Amino acid sequence: MHRAKTGFLNKDGIRIHPAEDFAGMRAAGRLAAECLDMIAEHVRPGATTGALDARIQAFFEAAGAESATIGYRGYQHASCISVNHVVCHGIPGAPVPKSASETMSRDPEKRRESDALKDGDILNIDVTCIVDGWFGDSSRMYVAGQLSRRDARLIRVTHECLMLGIEQVKPGNTFGDIGAAIQRHAEGHRMTVVRDFCGHGLGQVFHAPPNVLHYGRPGSGPMLEEGMFFTIEPMINLGKPFTKVLADGWTAVTKDKKNTAQFEHSIGVTADGCEIFTLSPAGKFYPTWDV
Ligand code: MF3
Ligand code: CO
Ligand code: CO
Repeated sequence: MHRAKTGFLNKDGIRIHPAEDFAGMRAAGRLAAECLDMIAEHVRPGATTGALDARIQAFFEAAGAESATIGYRGYQHASCISVNHVVCHGIPGAPVPKSASETMSRDPEKRRESDALKDGDILNIDVTCIVDGWFGDSSRMYVAGQLSRRDARLIRVTHECLMLGIEQVKPGNTFGDIGAAIQRHAEGHRMTVVRDFCGHGLGQVFHAPPNVLHYGRPGSGPMLEEGMFFTIEPMINLGKPFTKVLADGWTAVTKDKKNTAQFEHSIGVTADGCEIFTLSPAGKFYPTWDV
């Protein structure tokens, strides 16, 4: 259904929403978060990413909501599931690309034969749903089986990067303040920030201005204003920041095949800070794992 867009575009081309639009984002964000809560118990060694995606699709259908990713630029799945060194846009049901330790062959595109998770795999699951015309976009990290200390640290620092970015969100600060806080934290832990993908405005559309960079200089970029809706979704690497997209046209991997992590929230700027639309009702956004 087509609806007139609410609010107005500011001088930077960023939509400013009236207060009543927050309710729609709250409902959409909540459903995305509930979906990510639902899938947690199904992530274990032997589970296939295809089966996880099928559960996600069924969940949104049962809720009477739409998946925003099915049919988006030809994408055919209700989630992106990005395992180990897959940075983002991992395709559920497709064989998981071989990790550095699995790659005996020099062929960089050599893959595992299956999409089944193995003990110690870390994965990001990213879902976007549409509820009553509003978009909720969120992703988190999950672990199949036993988490390594190295990956535990990567996941912890990446979550901290997202939350430090969110702490910068208030009217009067800039988008550069968000990126600078994220970059400073990641690089302070000898990790790197992916430059090739960024967060984005959203609302009654999936991707809108601005590009929300996860690096930058304090005070740079557009000013934050009450009524802006956008995602922050830092991808943080253990190795170098460089990525490439595989021949399937979607799967983005780290060039050095070292592991990567990502967390994503959809948020709205309020008079004195922000509201996170995709908080986990079950408190599972950042679980604690046995290491
Ligand atoms: N949810 C992703 C984001 O955070 C976009 C996925 S688009 C898809 O912006 F087509 F790959 F699903
Ligand atoms: Co997003
Ligand atoms: Co997303």
